Amino acid sequence: MSSDQFPFNHYLHSGYAHPITRSWQGDSTILKSQLIYPIFVTDQSNTKNEIKPLPGNYQLSADQVLVDFLTPLVQKGLRTIILFGVLLNNESKDLTGSAASNDTASPVIKSLKLIRQNFPQLCIACDVCLCAYTSHGHCGITHDDGSINNAESIKRLAEVSLSFAQAGAHIIAPSDMMDCRIGAIKKALFDGGFGSKVAVMSYASKFASSFYGPFRDAASSGAKYGDRACYQLPPASRSLALRAALRDAEEGADFVMVKPAGPYMDIIREVKNNVNLPMCCYQVSGEYAMIYHASAAGAMDLKTSVLESLLCLKRAGCDIFITYFTPQLLEWLPL
Ligand code: PBG
Ligand code: ZN
Repeated sequence: MSSDQFPFNHYLHSGYAHPITRSWQGDSTILKSQLIYPIFVTDQSNTKNEIKPLPGNYQLSADQVLVDFLTPLVQKGLRTIILFGVLLNNESKDLTGSAASNDTASPVIKSLKLIRQNFPQLCIACDVCLCAYTSHGHCGITHDDGSINNAESIKRLAEVSLSFAQAGAHIIAPSDMMDCRIGAIKKALFDGGFGSKVAVMSYASKFASSFYGPFRDAASSGAKYGDRACYQLPPASRSLALRAALRDAEEGADFVMVKPAGPYMDIIREVKNNVNLPMCCYQVSGEYAMIYHASAAGAMDLKTSVLESLLCLKRAGCDIFITYFTPQLLEWLPL
């Protein structure tokens, strides 16, 4: 067959036959500085509990145990963590989640002070939500009938945010999904003198997802009645996800987030195309568990599938990655 009978214009392999020409087909660089590692800190002392459904991840007490855990990771290039407070003592939980902002009761506040002292270069984000601190396990303050009292909730979330800023947080990351809390938090930070120093990363497009299952064990933050479907977004909704991101950007968010990540890649692209902010994706606990357990069972290769999962998020538009695979990625990524 001579070349003029041949549909040579439809042949693609030639463009990526060499490793270098393959690398020109899309930007696949992910930097260690784009990773955020979730850290669970407890109200206990001198304890480290492995989180069963998240092998390799631990509930850490906010003392030397936390420092010893972070030290090798920081040496390998860890730049940012996100702190989650965990109350293992249920008696500390109440209707308004008062322990969250209490200097002596809050594991997050204790950790902030400790980490700022021991790791001055580390950037510290704090998840802000009430579910780990409320007796009912919902993410806000409720009316007597159990429904969310939005006005009281955002007041309380703003209080908690300010207390984290005062203790040394660099980034406030509200995950509660109450309406208009970004504006309320921004105002509290400004009034408290942190307006130009502390960033707000909004869990803007956060869906009501079954992929959070392992996390609720990790943070002991499951709802005691009902579910979160009246404040987290319906998984089928594209328009609400976009409205939430646009609204939070308008209220002053410095970063927006899509969560979960892998199953919601179309939303990542949609938000990226419409919101002019750096975008973070949360590869959540269930996504970690899927990849981890599938590779442990020999069904796929851990390193290749983790790298591919992040690369695809980047292609979809993600700039910043929250992932439980951060310790492994610090070994695998070159920079
Ligand atoms: C708290 C919160 C959750 C996650 C992050 N912050 C759980 C939830 O909303 O039920 C999930 C993270 C994960 O699954 O890794 N609001
Ligand atoms: Zn919550």
